[in-house]
Amino acid sequence: MARKKHIDGPAPVAEAREVAPVERGGEKAWQAALRPRTFDEYIGQRDLIDNLRISVRAAREHGWPLDHFLFAGPPGLGKTTLAHVIAEELGVNLHVTSGPAIDHKGMLASLLTSLGERDALFIDEIHRLAPVVEENLYPAMEDFKFDLFIGDGPHAKAVTMQLPRFTLLGATTRMGLLSAPLLDRFGFHWQLRYYEQADMTAIVKRSAAITGIHIDEAGAHEIARRSRGTPRIANRLLRRVRDFAAVERDGRIDVDIAASALDRLAVDHAGLDALDRAYLSVICERFDGGPVGVEAVAASLSEERG
Ligand code: ADE
Repeated sequence: MARKKHIDGPAPVAEAREVAPVERGGEKAWQAALRPRTFDEYIGQRDLIDNLRISVRAAREHGWPLDHFLFAGPPGLGKTTLAHVIAEELGVNLHVTSGPAIDHKGMLASLLTSLGERDALFIDEIHRLAPVVEENLYPAMEDFKFDLFIGDGPHAKAVTMQLPRFTLLGATTRMGLLSAPLLDRFGFHWQLRYYEQADMTAIVKRSAAITGIHIDEAGAHEIARRSRGTPRIANRLLRRVRDFAAVERDGRIDVDIAASALDRLAVDHAGLDALDRAYLSVICERFDGGPVGVEAVAASLSEERG
């Protein structure tokens, strides 16, 4: 189809401009471009980063493979980012997958046998592994072995394959759903916390610098304050506020344009959106502060239970 012609005045300026690589993709590409790649670039989660530095240094200096590590915590806090950082610092390849994506034993076999010596395998949402896949992961994690059956029926032959010494990096938003045998096979697990305000402000300033956005301290603070301690939210809101600043101002973000844009995006001073506020109002007002069951809240909001 032919492109719609711009008849009311000059064509939009952006058509003539070169678009920066970070602007060419969608939200995922934006977030990926802003990911820290090394421990030095990583802001926040200080205790965790200090521990990881020690383990990675020990592995590198002594030639030991890194133990299997598990990260737990709400979405957007950097579990996937940490896997990339660890692989980068170890100087190994990272293979990325998720619990629901490994839907049968054969798929796990092909993933594990494609790993190189010391490579890291990242499994996101590891609490969603199918039971049969999880059971076959145990000997792989512990003894770097995988049992396969070749052929069918009475002629089937059991073959044990030796796997490379890999590192499993697991991530979960639901630590409580992980089975004890799986949890026991990780040498280290850590619950990520929401980021502190100062760290969030530093993250917003770093993201702005990478993407060429001018922002002052108070503007960065305002976006950080409304991002619920979650870097992924901060980076998303930074891009939205940038749009308002570009259209209504000279592109620079200060506290006034940040606050005004976020108000119009219905993100309040605590980072809550319209549905969050409706959820809290129902509990406070209709159910007198609770306790109240999830079904009753869902019905009152005309939303699905999920
Ligand atoms: N971008 C997203 N998360 C970050 C973090 N923890 N440190 C620096 N930049 C980030």
